[in-house]
Amino acid sequence: MNFKYSCVLLLAFFAASQAYSSSWGKKNSNDYLLSRQTEVRYPIKNNYWNVNVDFPRSGTTNMYNITFVNVIDNFRNSSGATPSLWSGGPGYRFVQINLRSLVSQGMDSTVEIWGR
Ligand SMILES: *[C@@H]1O[C@H](CO)[C@@H](O)[C@H](O)[C@H]1NC(C)=O
Ligand SMILES: *[C@@H]1O[C@H](CO)[C@@H](O)[C@H](O)[C@H]1NC(C)=O
Repeated sequence: MNFKYSCVLLLAFFAASQAYSSSWGKKNSNDYLLSRQTEVRYPIKNNYWNVNVDFPRSGTTNMYNITFVNVIDNFRNSSGATPSLWSGGPGYRFVQINLRSLVSQGMDSTVEIWGR
């Protein structure tokens, strides 16, 4: 295997392993971690999971401005859930993230919300 070929393989591996991790905004060094929650679901045959993660949780208030939202796919094998920003996020005090799993696949995703 020549050098060029192994570089391409390595890039392909990184692309695949990070496909379902996403972030919005930019984290500054003095931001606080406002929330971190991990959603784990077991696969359902021929069906998928659709999970909304709301911040702040209902019944609580958040006085910080969100700067950065980071969703980490703990599967790291490209079968994890696809995260989408549905509302709020950086510049707001609330955010709703949607996690949608693949059909017949579970999910293990961590949602981190940073702000100040
Ligand atoms: C949040 O952002 C608004 C608008 O930029 C600003 O007026 C406010 O002071 C910020 N709040 C905090 C806690 O930084
Ligand atoms: C991906 O990894 C998760 C956790 O290790 C596992 O449950 C799942 O079966 C894997 N999916 C594939 C397609 O390999």
